[in-house]
Amino acid sequence: MAGTIGTGPQLHLESERGTMTVQKASADDADKDRRSRVEGRQTGEGERRFVPASRTGDFDLHGAIGGTAGCRRLSMAFYARVAKDPLLRPLFPGKTMKCAIEEFVAFLAQFLGGPVADAQRRLWVSLRESHLRFQIGPGERAAWMKHMVGALEDAEIDEPARASLREFFEHSSAYVVNVGSAPYFGVSMETEPDSIHREIAKRWDAQLTLDDAVAAVRSGDTERALTLADTLKSQASFSKNHRSVLVGLFGVMLGSGTDAMFRYIQDEITLDPEIAHERYGGRTLLHVASARSRLTLVEFLLRMGADPNARDTGDHAPLYSLANECKNAAAGGVVRALVEYGANVNANGGVKHCTALHMAARRGNVEVAQALLECGADVEARDSLGVTPLRRALNCRRPEVAALLVRWGVARE
Ligand code: HEM
Repeated sequence: MAGTIGTGPQLHLESERGTMTVQKASADDADKDRRSRVEGRQTGEGERRFVPASRTGDFDLHGAIGGTAGCRRLSMAFYARVAKDPLLRPLFPGKTMKCAIEEFVAFLAQFLGGPVADAQRRLWVSLRESHLRFQIGPGERAAWMKHMVGALEDAEIDEPARASLREFFEHSSAYVVNVGSAPYFGVSMETEPDSIHREIAKRWDAQLTLDDAVAAVRSGDTERALTLADTLKSQASFSKNHRSVLVGLFGVMLGSGTDAMFRYIQDEITLDPEIAHERYGGRTLLHVASARSRLTLVEFLLRMGADPNARDTGDHAPLYSLANECKNAAAGGVVRALVEYGANVNANGGVKHCTALHMAARRGNVEVAQALLECGADVEARDSLGVTPLRRALNCRRPEVAALLVRWGVARE
């Protein structure tokens, strides 16, 4: 049985948009690209590879490696080894490997179909993109693989899951190499592939589609991005985490996408309103749409029942995300829409207990500060250190917001 991991020989093109012919051609192109990218690194003859992605049945992969506890054991064992490696250690800043450990656990939960709450914590969407910040050559990959093989033993992952994961890591570690050429990473499979192999191949296929979709969004290629999003939906629909993954992709679209992508997101939420409540990277789409000041989508999400007071993993609501991150003009309308639907304009949260007004002051966003004040934001609000928005604006050298806050305070007296 021959096939290639990540190639998805059967693309499922059930889509609500366009004609089947167009989509099939585009999806096939995407499939060819993936195949050449992965196969391009393979040499040698007669090797047996991962089986094609199959959609037959579901398999509790996450459970097979011991659930969240097993994933954490593996991640901790792996990073304990990386921490002592002179080549890899410098790539991981910080005194401890705590963040790296947790990020890997979240990835495994997402990839292996673990609990939705664990998977939702993954921050990055594309595995390739998250590694582009580092120079990863064959040497780094070999070191990474050596430690992973050791960690699979340390963590006592039982067979056949251990062998399947090892093969998966051989493929995926070659995939993230971005300097020089990746070594041959074909897989020699002595026995007929079992359901664990099939399941991993299927999931890897979906991850590659996700990576390609992110790249298409970043390059502004709308048609390709939407075709891949459709492909991803069909590939990932088996997993209980599929909504979270889609929210991750939609979040990327909201950041650098086109109007057609925003319409696509709306269509998808209309078809599956649960998406409006789902999270990726700990945030709902309402957090992201607010932070990007996408008024039409914010209003749409609110109409679809998205919670304007939902907290992200940093304990911040969408208004905070908007005040903290928004760089676009016309953000005042987003503030008003959120408040109209019940957002608490004086909500404070996180370690510093800052309100949205504190953050607008810090960022120097006059329009957002003005809208917050008009919606009832407390000009005298105090953060955990007793600092007011005015003090924050002065500390951060934001004279325009400071002037606004002074005028507002005086007018109230
Ligand atoms: C080939 C050798 C590899 C090297 C040298 C490498 C190195 C790194 C580094 C330096 C980070 C950043 C850590 C941080 O920000 O604190 C990272 C993040 C991460 N790595 Fe790798 N990595 C490799 C392969 C892999 C593979 C094969 C996987 C999964 C199959 C993986 C999964 C992750 C995940 C999940 C993260 C967190 C970012 C994200 O969610 O995408 N890495 N890696």
